Amino acid sequence: MQINLVTQLLAALDTEALVTYVFEDTDPVQGRLAEIDQAAGGTSGGPSGGLLRKLAQAGEFSGKTLEFTLLHAPPGLKAARLLLVGAGKRDQFNSATLRKIAGAALRYLKSRGVHKFAFLVRENDATDESAQAIVEGAVTADFETDKYKTDKKNDKFIESLTLAGYSDAEKSAGEKGLAKGRIIAESQNFARDLVNEPSNKLTPRILAEKAEAMARESGLAVDILDDRKITELKMGALLSVAQGSIEPPRVIVVTYTPSNAKPGSPVIGLVGKAVTFDTGGISIKPADGMEKMKYDMAGGATMLGVMRALAALKPNVKVICVVPATENMPGGRAQKPGDIQTSMSGKTIEVLNTDAEGRLILADAITYAKQLGVTHIVDSATLTGAIVVALANINVGVFGSADQGWTDKLLTSAKAAGEKMWQMPMDDEYREFVKGSFADLQNIGSGKGGGSITGAWFIREFAGDTPWVHLDIAGTAWNDDPKPWLAKGPTGVSLRTLVHLVMSY
Ligand code: BES
Ligand code: ZN
Ligand code: ZN
Repeated sequence: MQINLVTQLLAALDTEALVTYVFEDTDPVQGRLAEIDQAAGGTSGGPSGGLLRKLAQAGEFSGKTLEFTLLHAPPGLKAARLLLVGAGKRDQFNSATLRKIAGAALRYLKSRGVHKFAFLVRENDATDESAQAIVEGAVTADFETDKYKTDKKNDKFIESLTLAGYSDAEKSAGEKGLAKGRIIAESQNFARDLVNEPSNKLTPRILAEKAEAMARESGLAVDILDDRKITELKMGALLSVAQGSIEPPRVIVVTYTPSNAKPGSPVIGLVGKAVTFDTGGISIKPADGMEKMKYDMAGGATMLGVMRALAALKPNVKVICVVPATENMPGGRAQKPGDIQTSMSGKTIEVLNTDAEGRLILADAITYAKQLGVTHIVDSATLTGAIVVALANINVGVFGSADQGWTDKLLTSAKAAGEKMWQMPMDDEYREFVKGSFADLQNIGSGKGGGSITGAWFIREFAGDTPWVHLDIAGTAWNDDPKPWLAKGPTGVSLRTLVHLVMSY
């Protein structure tokens, strides 16, 4: 999709469809809408009104969020169609709404065979932030999960998007936002594409190859640890998960080094769970719905997507991404409940349930990241079904260490990026749940509930004193039903937040 920004007057915009948004208001025909209305033969605010005022009076559009009104051959405009999208109440309107509106408009027009459209920002919205949100919304909405369908409808595609409503003075800000939004959204789609791959097409080795290719293309340093190196490093927790599979594990390490790092600035560690398929191992999962466990590598894919975006956005801090990749299979050599493993940190773990494998691989990845010198850690993982019980598919679960400042920084970035996240409690009392009977730790609690917190506390034991935030994305990384602005399937959740977090230094 081509994306550009023009400063033309709106009546002169020659496009297949001109899209703009209307607020829920006693008079929705104000500002730019009134301009369009005048072009359509009305007098400003006068009782005769133009087409839009007549339609508004007839109740044809109300401004309710994501209500669509499509007009063909709108009088006074060069555009072949005018699409009005409801934006809700003006005082609740923000970039998150704009992102959804742009995405929903793209999917609406794409399904109707439109190839080129222009998106007009309303008065006061001609900012870099709006341009970024519109482009993020459009590019992520354009992503489809039909890669393996052979009967694709090839006539349904969007060729170009034009941003409009910017003056000459506002143009450079708009273009800056456009470029940033494009980098972030394309990186989000890169991550979603990895998540969408089935496990036979994305083994740990293939994921490592794809990560390596991405790093080389983006100019990032990359180091792939193979099974020999992983053994040498004594990553016993990761190896214990991998031993049930014929496919060898990998640890993917991608590093971004700024050219101008300030002395004393942090080194951020991004750690992402990449279980390319989670059968549960010997504690095997039920067959119903097991196919979805191909998305158990979404945390790792997200982190690789973040690195891809950072390579282009060039923040001032060093970032090291560590992605442990493995299958969790019940093969003949698989670990069994009760087995005791020694992690890279030296801490011993009693594996009471082989399906609680994410925390095992994250334990070693975090230990390794610390060895590489990270000072602050974020991990993202499809860790627990329990987070779906607590927060459904709406909020990402956020868990932090004692350093609330680091957690707050992440939550601020989540707000700015328009991703819903909710902090969960991490009281010391929960720590008891992961104390082992026969080893230092056990990988599940003893049936006292609080499954997501238990998982988080297990990982925290390995982060130690290093400021750490854990994101449980099990409920939010996969979209079961298509949304007007997003296809069914991988969401790429947490990528925008993490890019914002790193860029805030
Ligand atoms: N990958 C799963 C978590 C998951 C569940 C992700 C649903 C996406 C959707 C994880 O490895 C797992 O199996 N967790 C267990 C932990 C339990 C054994 C303590 C779970 O949540 O059931
Ligand atoms: Zn599992
Ligand atoms: Zn898992």
